[in-house]
Amino acid sequence: DPYADDPKDRLPALIVRSARPMNAEPPRELLTGSVITPTEVFYIRNHLPVPRIDEAQYSLRIEGQGIKTLDLSLDRLKAEFRKHTVTATVQCSGNRRNDFYAVKDVKGLEWGGAAIGTAVWGGVRLGEVLQAAGLDPGAEGVRHVQFFGADADGAGQAYAASIPVHRALDPRADVLLAYEMNGAPLTRDHGAPLRVIVPGTAGCRSVKWVTKVVPSGEEADSLWQRRDYKAFSPSVGWDEVDWDSAPAIQAMPVTSLICEPAPGARVEPEDLVTVKGYAWSGGGNRVIRVDVTADGGATWHTAELEGVEQEEGRNWAWVLWSAEVEVPGTPGEVEIAAKATDASYNTQPEAPGPIWNLRGVNCNSWPRIRIVAEE
Ligand code: MTE
Repeated sequence: DPYADDPKDRLPALIVRSARPMNAEPPRELLTGSVITPTEVFYIRNHLPVPRIDEAQYSLRIEGQGIKTLDLSLDRLKAEFRKHTVTATVQCSGNRRNDFYAVKDVKGLEWGGAAIGTAVWGGVRLGEVLQAAGLDPGAEGVRHVQFFGADADGAGQAYAASIPVHRALDPRADVLLAYEMNGAPLTRDHGAPLRVIVPGTAGCRSVKWVTKVVPSGEEADSLWQRRDYKAFSPSVGWDEVDWDSAPAIQAMPVTSLICEPAPGARVEPEDLVTVKGYAWSGGGNRVIRVDVTADGGATWHTAELEGVEQEEGRNWAWVLWSAEVEVPGTPGEVEIAAKATDASYNTQPEAPGPIWNLRGVNCNSWPRIRIVAEE
């Protein structure tokens, strides 16, 4: 059993979407307790068995076009490079896929809306390590930086993904080789002893258990880079999909979720209900506003936002939001919907149908829940 050595200390409250490999998200109401998601509450997204890596034996290889090969132990990495911490949200690009399933069948894990979390990541800047290996920022032909994980499939293909080199080298993009999550060493599920964190970017690029970093002219040659995490028109099906025709998802679109009240909650007509959730946008774009409606969009309430101070354009962390919304005076079902807007004034599409795609990625339509008003 390749999964026999998977961690046993996972939070029992996590909702398991697949056990082998482990894919689990917390109940959504656990997300709004604090801007920083406790590590044990943080969703787990594994494609393969969790590798067990002896920290003392561990070494990270940096190799590739026009650079010198470096083999860095964790101690050397910590001794030779400055520690940098970044508060960043990581979201799976399949988060909220269940809203697509409600439209039409898709292929992928049935994520609710909690395949997302925010942590304080501690580590070293990827760009500084690449520069130490001699990578010339102006080098012709180097366009991507590939990352390889220690987890591999039956054919020996390691989990791999890549990001554009300009992002990897930009100190303001805050891309990390992280060894800490929320002030403690990474746990095995979250990539111990070292993982990549690419703020503002789909979680699949933040490669866990990273063993090798390779600047290259090409994107990573893995399924996870060249196929899975791409979106197409709702009319493109599995027979006609041309994977090479779409770019790999990197920065993600603005999104939000309603975490409270629970669907089906009972209230009285004209009650003031506290609605809470999260909102986040990719690429470092700040969420500037969240609007909430309980009457089908006739009136909107602007939510209070709670977050961490970050420099404009480096808004890697989500905001939590809260709004008091009056439910209508007539008894019956009440639909509550929300929409977030980011600093580029991008906002969320109203319905999932027009953004449905065969892999079920980047679902960011208005989150909606139904509660019941009764005397
Ligand atoms: N890295 C490796 N090596 N193997 C993986 O399966 N999953 C990716 C990414 N990095 C993955 C990986 C995906 S799809 C996501 S969304 C994030 O890790 C999830 O990180 P988390 O499990 O720490 O929440």
